Amino acid sequence: MDKKIIIAIDGFSSTGKSTLAKELAKHLGYVYVDTGAMYRAVAYFAMQNGYIGKEFFDIESLVNSLPYIKLVFQFNPDLGFSEMYLNETNVEQEIRTLEVSNFVSKVAEIPEVRSKLVEQQQEMGKSKGIVMDGRDIGTVVFPEAELKIFMNASAHTRAQRRFKELKEKGDTVSSFEDVLKNIEERDYIDTHREDSPLLKAKDALEFDNSNISKQEQFEKVLKLIVI
Ligand code: DC
Repeated sequence: MDKKIIIAIDGFSSTGKSTLAKELAKHLGYVYVDTGAMYRAVAYFAMQNGYIGKEFFDIESLVNSLPYIKLVFQFNPDLGFSEMYLNETNVEQEIRTLEVSNFVSKVAEIPEVRSKLVEQQQEMGKSKGIVMDGRDIGTVVFPEAELKIFMNASAHTRAQRRFKELKEKGDTVSSFEDVLKNIEERDYIDTHREDSPLLKAKDALEFDNSNISKQEQFEKVLKLIVI
C-alpha cells in the first residue's frame, strides 16, 4: 500500500463520521483530522473571551483575534487519537459540551474563520495519507480527494446517539429535547450558510446509517478503498 490517498468524510452532525474516520485511519495507518474540533475550539475561544453569548456575538473582535488563535492536534498514545490544543492548552473535554455545540455553527458561518481553518487543513493534507471529517472537506478543502463519503441519519437517531454520549460523559443537565433541538438548529445553519454550506459533493458516496451498525459501515467503506 504505497500510494497514499485523501479520504474526505462529510455529513450531518452526530452521524458517526468521527468513529468511521478514526477506524479507517487506524486500519490504514493514516492521520485522522477532526475539523469540527477546530471550529469548536474557535467557538470556545470566543466564549472564553466574552465575544459570544446567548444574545450577542462580537464578530469583529473574534475576527481581529484570529491571528492569535493557535490550533494544534497532539497525538495521545494512551487514547490512540489526537487531542485538540488551543494556544497550548488541551481543550478536548471543553469543546465537546452542549454549550459549545450551541454556539459553534454561528462561529463556523464567519468567512474569515473558515478561510483560516481551511488553509490549515489543506496544509495538513499536503502529503496525503489522511482521513478528514467535517462539512466541506469533499467540496472545499479537498475537492480532488480520491474517496468522498457523505453520511446521514435521521435527526431523531442522531439525537439519541448524542444524548447517550453526553450522559456517558457525565452530563446531567441536558435533556433529550435540548439535544434534538440543537441538532435541528445546527442542521439548518450548516446547510443554509452562505460560505461553504454543508452539501454532498457530486462524486461523494452517500451512506444513511440510521439502520446499519458501525462495523457493517466500516466494512462497506473499506471495500471502496482501492489503493
Ligand atoms: O463535527 P462537529 O459536530 O464537531 O462540528 C461542529 C460544528 O462545526 C458544526 O455544527 C459545523 C461546523 N463545521 C463546519 O462548518 N465545517 C467543518 N469542516 C467542520 C465542522
